[in-house]
Formats: sequence, structure tokens, C-alpha cells
Amino acid sequence: MTGHPSPRFPRLLVTGGAGFIGSCFVRDRLARRDGTQIVVLDKLTYAGNRANLAAVETDPEQSARFRFVRGDIADPAVVAPLVAQADAVVNFAAESHVDRSILDPEAFLRTDVLGVHVLLEACRAEADRAAGCDRAAAPRFLQVSTDEVYGSVESGQSREQDRLDPRSPYSAAKASGELLVHSCFATYGLDVVTTRGANTYGPYHHPEKLIPLFITNAIDDQQLPLYGDGLQRRDWLYVRDHAGAIGHVLDHGLAGETYNIPGGNERTNRQVVATLLELLGKPWSLVRQVEDRPGHDRRYAMDGARLAALGWKNEMPIEEGLASTVKWYLANETWWRAIKSGGWDEYYRRQYAARLAGSRDAG
Ligand code: NAD
Ligand code: DAU
Repeated sequence: MTGHPSPRFPRLLVTGGAGFIGSCFVRDRLARRDGTQIVVLDKLTYAGNRANLAAVETDPEQSARFRFVRGDIADPAVVAPLVAQADAVVNFAAESHVDRSILDPEAFLRTDVLGVHVLLEACRAEADRAAGCDRAAAPRFLQVSTDEVYGSVESGQSREQDRLDPRSPYSAAKASGELLVHSCFATYGLDVVTTRGANTYGPYHHPEKLIPLFITNAIDDQQLPLYGDGLQRRDWLYVRDHAGAIGHVLDHGLAGETYNIPGGNERTNRQVVATLLELLGKPWSLVRQVEDRPGHDRRYAMDGARLAALGWKNEMPIEEGLASTVKWYLANETWWRAIKSGGWDEYYRRQYAARLAGSRDAG
């Protein structure tokens, strides 16, 4: 069959598996052809996209091990029977965009907090069944979280035991989800692990986020709205490395533990944008300095020693990752043009119209 050993968790429930990172996890895990069966539970919000899973659904061997269920992680009636059939749950499902959380925080509380609670309750019920010998073992639960829970890190690197200091409605909701996960380990002894990933980039990234927004706008010679002075720093992680690290923690992580997943590629936003424009052969004059994001975190940076000790190493160098990402967007216009239609215009106007009207040359 494959070079991969038999899976520790042969039946996975992957929530949010039609999104950017979740779909990469599903594609890469099924492509191992090690017998793993995956059920994706996804609400298909504006960010979810069945096309992200086309590679799986059109491959006869992989599609036989795959099932898609459209539904909400905050709905116990949908969640319970799916968790009952799973050896592990990997929770990617979230409202994930900081700017949208500033415009409309409520959906973030429902999915990123209540949704996590509903999934954990289903895992607790299954742990009870395992204790009563109604199933072989309790399911493992992996919560996909973010470096944003540490808040803005002016210097040094965040370690897993550091204080959480979320500063946006998005990161506050993600931190709350994590606290619920941890409480279920302490109180009920559930088998849980948490990952905190860095800023992720790569193919299938929704064009609301910095890198795909600027690539797709630049392809169309549209303005690029750079928030504030553009000297905010992010640590960039290629999507296949992020998904692979999550799989590694799922298989090898210690119950109750949290693992940072850094990218090891700290850059200012200006540096990233300059690289993208160079790769596209477009001028810096497209960049406009616009009003900053309120509460904008200046810098994220994480220490990756714990994950390294678990045996994980990222593979993609940033120069190659950005170049292949630009190539992917050039080759997949149909994918992103379909997203940049419909409700997109209304969002874009709300987020950027006034900002661009009051913008200035980005120097
Ligand atoms: P995304 O927005 O691309 O995808 C989210 C997916 O979740 C979508 O398919 C959406 O339809 C689905 N979803 C939303 N609400 C749901 C609900 N109530 N029930 C079921 N499905 C629902 O997000 P992403 O960038 O792939 O991020 C995935 C996870 O990784 C999130 O938990 C996010 O917080 C975390 N994360 C993201 C990054 C990043 O840079 N993108 C970095 C670190 C951590
Ligand atoms: O760090 C992990 C996080 O990375 C994830 O938890 C989030 O889900 C993900 O969206 C991402 O959050 P950011 O806010 O860092 O990503 P975003 O792409 O929105 O912004 C990256 C940087 O670029 C940030 O400093 C804001 C800036 N930016 C963003 C947009 C959309 C701009 O200057 N202009 C823009 O139009």
C-alpha cells in the first residue's frame, strides 16, 4: 500500500475540513493511502469551499474513505453521532478572520467557543461509553488554536506556559475555546491536545487574508490596502507544514499538552508585500497606506522547542513557499474569482472603501 505505518486513529472526524488548513490536512492525510477514513463536518460558511476537497472527491480510492457532512459544530444533534463513530476529532472549524471579528464578533463566540464546548461534550459522552466498555477507547480531541492567543509579543518568543493575552474578539474566542479544552483534561481526564499555529499561507487561502488578497488584487492591478505603517511582524508557516505538524501532534502529542507550531520566518508586512510584488512583476505604487486595524497586534513569535522535541521539523523554505503560492494563484483564477464575487463586494466595501478613500502613498 504505502510507506506509512497503520494509522493510530483509523477513523477521523475533521471539523472545518473544507477551509484553508483543514482541507490541506484532509488532502494530505488521505493521500498517504494508509486506510484512514475521514468524515468532514463543515458548515460551509463563506470561508468553506467544497472545491478545496475536489482532489479527494475525484480520486476513487480516496473518495471511498471520505464522507462530507454539512453541519454546525455547535449543533449537538449533528455532532454526537459523528463523534460516536470517530477515533479522534480534529477541530479546525472556526470563524478565522480578525477583521470580521472586529465588525461582527458574535459568530466567533458561537463557533469558536460554544462549538468547541459541544464537541467536547460529545467526546465526554464517548469517554463515558469507553469507561462502560461500550467502545474500545475514548476519542482523542485535537484543538487547532493560534499564536494570537498570546497577544502582541514585543520581544522574545512565546512559550506554551506563557500567560494568554488575546486582544481581538477572534483571539479572545480562540483563547476561550482553548481554556474549555484544558478544563476537560483537568476535570474529566479527556484525551485532548492543543496546537497553536503561526500565520499560515499557501494554496486555497481565502482572499480576505493579507497574502492572497494582495496577490489577487495585484494580478488585477487593484490597490493593496496596507494597515498602518506596515511594520507589523508575523511569522509565516507554509500550509502543508502546518497541517503536517497538526497530524504529528495528533499521533504523538502528550494528552493535556499544548504545542506551538512556529514557521521560523519572521517578516514585516512590508517585506512580505515587496516579495509578492517582485514575484508578480507589479509596482510598489499599488500599495496604499490605510487606517490601521484597531488593536492591531504588532508582532507574533513563538518558541518551537516542545514541538521539535516531539520530532517535528518544517520543510518549506519561505522563498520557495511564497513563489509557489503566487504561481498557484496565477494558475487557479477560477477558484479565487468565484470567491471574489457574490457577498465579497459588500464585505470589501465595508472593510476597505473608507480606508482606501482616505489612503496615502505607502512610501
Ligand atoms: P478558514 O476560515 O479557511 O476555514 C474555517 C472552516 O470552518 C470553513 O470551512 C468553515 O466553513 C468552517 N466552519 C466555520 N464555522 C463552522 C461551524 N460552526 N461548524 C462547522 N464548520 C464551520 O480557516 P483556516 O485559516 O483554515 O483556519 C483553520 C483553523 O486554524 C482555525 O481554527 C483557525 O483559528 C486556526 N489557525 C489559522 C491560522 C491561519 O493563519 N489561517 C493560523 C493558526 C491557527
Ligand atoms: O497568527 C495566526 C493567525 O493568522 C490566525 O489565527 C488567523 O486565523 C489568521 O487570519 C491570521 O491572522 P492575521 O490577522 O495575522 O492575518 P491577516 O492575513 O488578516 O493579516 C496579516 C497581517 O497583514 C496583519 O498584520 C494585518 C495586515 N493586513 C491584513 C489585511 C487583510 C494588512 O495590512 N492589510 C490587509 O488588508
